[in-house]
Amino acid sequence: MLSFNRTRNQPRANRSMSLGGMDYADPKKKSSYVGKILMAGALTALCILMLRQSTSFSTPSAGFAFLECCTDDSISRIWGTMIISFKEKFSRREAGVTHVLVTGGAGYIGSHAALRLLKDSHRVTIVDNLSRGNLGAIKVLQELFPEPGRLQFIYADLGDPKAVNKIFSENAFDAVIHFAAVAYVGESTLDPLKYYHNITSNTLVVLEAMAVHGVKTLIYSSTCATYGEPEKMPITEETPQIPINPYGKAKKMAEDIILDFHKNSKMAVMILRYFNVIGSDPEGRLGEAPRAELREHGRISGACFDAARGITPGLKVRGRSVKEFVEACKKATGATIKVEFLPRRPGDYAEVFSDPSKILRDLNWTAKYMNLQDSLQVAWRWQKSHVYGYGPAPATTA
Ligand SMILES: NC(=O)c1ccc[n+]([C@@H]2O[C@H](COP(=O)([O-])OP(=O)(O)OC[C@H]3O[C@@H](n4cnc5c(N)ncnc54)[C@H](O)[C@@H]3O)[C@@H](O)[C@H]2O)c1
Repeated sequence: MLSFNRTRNQPRANRSMSLGGMDYADPKKKSSYVGKILMAGALTALCILMLRQSTSFSTPSAGFAFLECCTDDSISRIWGTMIISFKEKFSRREAGVTHVLVTGGAGYIGSHAALRLLKDSHRVTIVDNLSRGNLGAIKVLQELFPEPGRLQFIYADLGDPKAVNKIFSENAFDAVIHFAAVAYVGESTLDPLKYYHNITSNTLVVLEAMAVHGVKTLIYSSTCATYGEPEKMPITEETPQIPINPYGKAKKMAEDIILDFHKNSKMAVMILRYFNVIGSDPEGRLGEAPRAELREHGRISGACFDAARGITPGLKVRGRSVKEFVEACKKATGATIKVEFLPRRPGDYAEVFSDPSKILRDLNWTAKYMNLQDSLQVAWRWQKSHVYGYGPAPATTA
């Protein structure tokens, strides 16, 4: 296997070789001149192809293992040079360029955030273990931003501190937006340890890596579930956080860890608590595509779309506060949806809604897409054109 070390250990003349390839222009070797030009042409085409792909997928430890097939040393050297220059874009700071690590960037909110960051000319590294996200979303982003140094995807699990540390040592991040998490209230009551591990413990891993590698900005994705069932509505930042399910508790613990660390460090931290997120990219490139096996834990918009498409026989609704949502969803999909009212699941709240004045005051930010039905309509458009999410239709068995 070709490793970076081996490539770096080549004599200097070989290391600095560019794709133009002095290796192929030695006048003393006329006999193989034509053959080598042909090989250079073929390599150029292959390099372009592989570079396009290499922006989309690597692993922290065994990236570019496909180079094992190359036996000709000159081929290896060219590849090595190209990969180093590609990786350098991410491993070195560049004036005027902010390099953002987006954890969970293959997921619903993370992929939309990555799109926005890339549109705003930032450099983005996505780390995701694809346990819940979609490689299809990464491919969409990669096709929109194919230039080297814009987007790289690293397939890794944040529960692996060694892998995380390696990622931080090989990349010069300016900021981290931490989205990666398991995020279903119902599932958290059935499998609490998974939630404490994936949310609380993994956040600690990310935070420690940031501290060790001097990354000074963190934006953390938290949730309204940290508030539990407050006595007073709407919820503000002053509302006491008393979570009632393991998902909310795990997120609250992660928040506390971040805030405690922040007190005696120079790290700038921001915690954003999302309430139920709906909608999708208005241009129809990205959407929400959770795994089919998570359907039973699903969110209300997903459940409504499943019912509208006939995947589930109807919509099982818990709590009165979702009635308005269901009406908007019926209108957005235009489908006749059978609705069944059930008692609340363990861990569910009766109502949660927020007063977002602080974010307007402090950051001058306000939600742009406020109309429930319009947002559902946009999401429904994506759902209709992506019946199988980002993937192809499942193969039918005879
Ligand atoms: N969607 C909402 O309504 C909502 C509401 C409140 C908070 N949030 C928070 O926002 C964040 C994103 O939510 P989402 O709806 O996009 O979820 P999502 O499931 O679509 O995305 C989460 C991503 O994290 C990845 N991931 C999970 N565990 C990982 C690990 N150990 N290592 C690497 N990658 C891992 C998954 O593969 C997935 O791509 C989560 O932290 C969630 O708690 C979401």
